[in-house]
Amino acid sequence: MRIGVFDSGLGGLTVLKTLIKMYPCNEYIYYGDTKNLPYGEKAKEKLFELSLNIIKFFETKKVDLIIIACGTISSCCFKELKSITNIPIYDIITPTINYLNKLNYQNIAIFATKRTIDTHIFKKNLHQKQVLEIKTSEFVPMIENKNLNLNIIKNYCLKIIDYDILVLGCTHYPIIEKEIKSYLNNKTSIINMANCLVNSLNLTNNNSLKVNLYFSKLDDNLLENINSILDIPYNIIENDNQ
Ligand code: DGL
Repeated sequence: MRIGVFDSGLGGLTVLKTLIKMYPCNEYIYYGDTKNLPYGEKAKEKLFELSLNIIKFFETKKVDLIIIACGTISSCCFKELKSITNIPIYDIITPTINYLNKLNYQNIAIFATKRTIDTHIFKKNLHQKQVLEIKTSEFVPMIENKNLNLNIIKNYCLKIIDYDILVLGCTHYPIIEKEIKSYLNNKTSIINMANCLVNSLNLTNNNSLKVNLYFSKLDDNLLENINSILDIPYNIIENDNQ
């Protein structure tokens, strides 16, 4: 299968990595819209316009399915995107909510971008009453620029110190999972949405692995970041599809 995966930047690579682990014999086309990142504070109309261009790009690449490896686009634009393409398209939040609704726990916290939290998609769809949604928009620029402010991370973690579950509601956040974990109680389980997504899919494995990464803007920092996430051979192409 040829699978299109996209995000604003690096974050979706955490999803790509999980997909490749589970479904290694496929062709993957990744699009990271680094020229327009961060997505997390943009207006819904702008997010739709940007993601529509990416869907059109995937249509020219003749992908068999599309994965929205971005919490922000999943929460704001999934329904609209689904209605404008014939290619099967999957978001990352629905499988996460389905998975969480099968668990038993007392309370749950969500770290996500401003735009995702503003939709209250988790609060509206989780059966559990004690849902604390926290906007952590500073995380994405810190991660993309490799400039972590541990105090900011710590202060957010202190707000949820006794929680049973923390959902990393933005696909960039698994990149700083180690730092987040260091400020939490051992009792807090951390949920990476990529795992919920891959376990909900049933893909065939019928090709040899091929990975093409497209970014709307490339620089040395990005290349270094990619290599710290992906440990497989890939081709990389700068493509400003807008
Ligand atoms: N990784 C994305 C998400 O899951 C986008 C974050 C951003 O660009 O602000 O929400």
